[in-house]
Amino acid sequence: MRRLFLFLTLAAVVAAVSGAAVISTPVEIDVKMPSISGDPGRGAYLARMSGCIACHTNGEEGGAPLAGGLALRTDFGTFYSPNLTSDKKTGIGDWSVEDFAKAVRHGISPEGKPYYPAFPYPFYSRFSDQDIADLWAAFQTVPAVDEPSREHDLGLPFNIRDGLKIWRTAFLDEGPFEPNPEKSDRWNRGKFIVEGPAHCGACHTPRNFAGARQVELAFHGADGLPDGGKSPPITAEALRKKGWTAKRLTYALRTGVLPDGDAFGGSMGEVVRDGTRFLQQEDLDAIAAYLLNED
Ligand code: HEC
Ligand code: HEC
Repeated sequence: MRRLFLFLTLAAVVAAVSGAAVISTPVEIDVKMPSISGDPGRGAYLARMSGCIACHTNGEEGGAPLAGGLALRTDFGTFYSPNLTSDKKTGIGDWSVEDFAKAVRHGISPEGKPYYPAFPYPFYSRFSDQDIADLWAAFQTVPAVDEPSREHDLGLPFNIRDGLKIWRTAFLDEGPFEPNPEKSDRWNRGKFIVEGPAHCGACHTPRNFAGARQVELAFHGADGLPDGGKSPPITAEALRKKGWTAKRLTYALRTGVLPDGDAFGGSMGEVVRDGTRFLQQEDLDAIAAYLLNED
């Protein structure tokens, strides 16, 4: 995060020098969605897997589901998750499915403004059109809550949203899911979940000076997590060395309990509590198959 701080400072300076006109031009992305119907049940499951509900609900203060307001404290300020309920004024009730696809897969608002990567949209670029349609169908069922989204509390220069365009150009790693045809369906399902919705790499992959993930060091563990913590490596080799097997992994991801009887600490405890414990056994098996690179 500290490194992201430096980079955004630089980006803001470049933005100031290169002239506000260029940088404040909306980002044009043409997003088309096929007219397919979404399955709200499947969408709700995906939302749980992806952390949408945990991050967009102010559980700390008893807020309504998906009405936003959860504080995300980082080194460069505090972000507040926005209201995603179907309220037309304060939520996303007047959005189209295209607006939703553009926000979730590309990190661009309906007005063409870039979102901060505190919203982990780069991972969500792996969602298929059907996934987006399912999520959208699920969000449609969320009761409207009239609760204005809170402004983020960021100092200069991070509050200059347009500075993010430079970050996007330099570092944004997004794109559709690419299965490996040499691997089993189970392994590929695991790859999709781990690299996409469950965004395990958000904490387990180290970041470069600009806060972008270092793809070549994927899952090698990272320090400087938002809560100040550190994550261990979860490459197949590192996991095997520590005695992890598929059975132990799926058990730990379902219960939070480790093979030695201890429990996951820090933010990993929350990952289990808000996400992996809700996953179907076959999805947990898929995650384990991918992480341990079995079949
Ligand atoms: C780690 C926390 C986190 C997770 C997980 C997360 N979001 Fe967000 N989301 C945010 C934050 C913070 C913003 C505000 C970003 C900004 O202002 O640039 C945001 C913004 C959004 C917006 C734009 C809302 C608006 O009013 O413009 C949408 C839509 C959204 N998120 C949908 C989702 C969906 C769908 C998921 C799950 C697939 C999800 N989010 C998961 C934190 C999160
Ligand atoms: C919010 C940050 C965060 C996310 C997201 C996250 N982890 Fe973790 N993970 C951690 C931390 C921190 C630890 C160390 C926990 C401890 O000290 O008890 C950890 C530990 C682990 C371990 C134990 C490794 C060991 O050395 O014994 C495994 C396995 C693991 N995570 C898997 C995953 C998987 C799979 C995902 C995605 C579904 C994931 N993690 C997502 C932060 C995270």
